[in-house]
Amino acid sequence: MMSYQLPPVWTKLQRHEVFPEFSHDERARYNFLANLNRFVSTAIAPGNKIAFDKRVEPAFRAVHGRSFADRHEVAAAMSNEPIYQCWGALRRSTMEMRQQNGRAVVLRQAQQLAEKVKARLAGAANLVLAKDFVVPPYLRHVDNHLMPGSYHTEYFAGDVANAANYDSGLFVTSGGMLGSLTDGGGKAIAAWVKASYPDFKPRRILDIGCGLGHNTLPIAQLYPDAEVIAIDAGAPMLRYGAARAQALGIGNVTFMQTDAADMQAFANGHFDWVQTTMFLHETGGRAIHKIFKEINRVLAVGGLNLHIEQPQYTPDMSFYEQFMRDWDAYYNAEPYWGHMHDLQPVDLMQEAGVDPADFMQVGVKAVNDLDQKKADGQVTEDYGRSPIWNVFGGWKKG
Ligand SMILES: C[S@@+](CC[C@H](N)C(=O)[O-])C[C@H]1O[C@@H](n2cnc3c(N)ncnc32)[C@H](O)[C@@H]1O
Repeated sequence: MMSYQLPPVWTKLQRHEVFPEFSHDERARYNFLANLNRFVSTAIAPGNKIAFDKRVEPAFRAVHGRSFADRHEVAAAMSNEPIYQCWGALRRSTMEMRQQNGRAVVLRQAQQLAEKVKARLAGAANLVLAKDFVVPPYLRHVDNHLMPGSYHTEYFAGDVANAANYDSGLFVTSGGMLGSLTDGGGKAIAAWVKASYPDFKPRRILDIGCGLGHNTLPIAQLYPDAEVIAIDAGAPMLRYGAARAQALGIGNVTFMQTDAADMQAFANGHFDWVQTTMFLHETGGRAIHKIFKEINRVLAVGGLNLHIEQPQYTPDMSFYEQFMRDWDAYYNAEPYWGHMHDLQPVDLMQEAGVDPADFMQVGVKAVNDLDQKKADGQVTEDYGRSPIWNVFGGWKKG
């Protein structure tokens, strides 16, 4: 019989002052869904490869006299496979159920959450919201990863409901592999920069698309003398993030509502380090180039620019793996996912002012304080959910 490692229990998440309250049944639903996700990725997903190798690829070859030429041909052939339909439907259902459980939890206490956040922010100066902010259309028109209302929707003035949903629910999709504060990526990148560049002493750090700051805070903690600016388009995320940072005792981060494609609030060369984490795939085909142009402008000569993402679709990645990784683009409301992963990071970095000779790319694994042994021991690939990322970037040339 197949065995697989259980995810940690959801109650191991560190609850802070502005975290939503959960009943027994609401906790149980999240635990069930985290386990279902793990089961789907460990016990069911490998069946796709068996079907591909044994039936789908040989049948395609028999008809066309060749193998697949790209992931789109794989997608067309695999879409009729019962195992793929079963895996996809279960994956989609777990995501929908996660969003609906989180949504029910936060909506019934939305007013109290907003009041807790307001009280936490009284007298604090770490939140700057823009008047008449225009949410980029590519965000406005999509419920990203099936989160109703995405990052920006406010149900009333001062609302933080969607951010509280995101904070409590990401554990379920990641199977608890991001740590007790869902900050395993930020911890990993901060530690990597510190170890790799011990003499680097950034005075000003910009985190673009910070969300509620899960991965911003570890950077701010490891560089306590730096002034950290965390920008996002979603007011609920920023409000909640600013209150959460206060609640966790982190005082060197300011959360600002700013469009990354138009960062006129910052002077040329203002930042020594510009960071993004799981952000680029949630931008758009035109916006991404404006964003890199803006990064080039606000980054100081000799400054560091890093991006954490899921792996790009490189020529050495099989079309089967590219197809599996593309699932989010079609079934998880991530419309830019596939296009972003087709881009050449070295080209993007040139737009940010990094010489191709100085381009760097490394693999980084989440630091998981909940259960590092389980993180290390997880062998199955979850195609876009694993806490192992591609980091690319470089130092801006003089
Ligand atoms: C997947 S979330 C990543 C959050 C965060 N970096 C983390 O690691 O937890 C992507 C974030 O990018 C933000 N975003 C997308 N486009 C943006 C833009 N043009 N300007 C500012 N924020 C943007 C969204 O609002 C969302 O909060």
